[in-house]
Amino acid sequence: MLEELEQIRAEALAKLAEANDAKALEAWRVAYLGRKSPLKQVFTQMGKLPPEERPLVGKRTNEIRREFEAAYEERAAAIRQAELRRALAEERLDVTLPGRKPAPGRLHPVTQTIRRISEIFAEMGFQVLRSREVETDEYNFQLLNIPPHHPAREMQDTFYVKTQTEDDTYPVVLRTHTSPGQIHAMRMMSGYTGEGPLPENPPPLRVILPGMVYRYEQITARSEIQFTQVEGLAVGHNITFSDLKGTLADFARRMFGPEARVRFRASHFPFTEPSAEVDVECFLCGGKGCNVCKHTGWLEILGAGMVHPVVLRNGGYDPEKYSGFAFGMGPERITMLRHYIEDIRYFWSGDLRFLEQF
Ligand code: PHE
Repeated sequence: MLEELEQIRAEALAKLAEANDAKALEAWRVAYLGRKSPLKQVFTQMGKLPPEERPLVGKRTNEIRREFEAAYEERAAAIRQAELRRALAEERLDVTLPGRKPAPGRLHPVTQTIRRISEIFAEMGFQVLRSREVETDEYNFQLLNIPPHHPAREMQDTFYVKTQTEDDTYPVVLRTHTSPGQIHAMRMMSGYTGEGPLPENPPPLRVILPGMVYRYEQITARSEIQFTQVEGLAVGHNITFSDLKGTLADFARRMFGPEARVRFRASHFPFTEPSAEVDVECFLCGGKGCNVCKHTGWLEILGAGMVHPVVLRNGGYDPEKYSGFAFGMGPERITMLRHYIEDIRYFWSGDLRFLEQF
């Protein structure tokens, strides 16, 4: 019987050493400390033993049971420890890792260009104004010396919002350029409403008017139906073409770098006389010739000229006493040139892969 007990003991302790998780441990407890355990069996068979052996077997059985209980507790503690260690290792959190950077929003590349242009002209003493995007035909064309049926209208195919206004005179359009802002700015300063005698001494003005314009065109890599312009206007006494040249040359240096040079080519706009298109020396190749400037060394960035007498008068400024210059530039074009962007359609694509580069 004692031998049998030792066998039970050895077997049980060996099995306990193999129990590696809570489930195996519980199975072991039921098997060796439960009601049907081999130790209990020994007790029930005790009656069959000779009386002198009984105390010895009983004593040893109790010893082994206590040993089992102690071994069980020890093993249970070890398993709990192991499980805790595993859980800690699996869920490890390194609090010293740098945090993940949130991706902040950013300004659209064209907005960045407009802001830079505005900053430069503000430094030169120009006010920054806005004017409406929905215009009358009168402001968009007629007051700018473009009468109905004038061929110049075909340069700027128009979105008509309404073909007639309430008083049946002028259609309503989405402005095709920011130039109607010239009339608004001059009338704001002179107080002229378009009727009666011209005001006596309206103050000089220097403004830029950035904003969205619309043209009814085929959308291609080079032309969009909705884009931006920055209009510029200076009106005062003795303003000359030299002032225009000096202002734009200085703008180019501030915008594109101290080496930037500008070139004026004769052109035509109904609202300026004389008119010019202005090129900046290619800032990508320094004028040597590259793909972007099509090997000419020059890039066209704006239209400009001396404000036409009819336009000055429509703004409330007597062309006998006042003169002025105006220009209109395209921020999309400038942005494309600066960043080698080959397709204007990216600007409205909303594609983050594009936008995140700026
Ligand atoms: N409004 C002209 C255009 O959209 C640009 C321009 C503005 C030209 C002012 C001369 C003076 O093409």
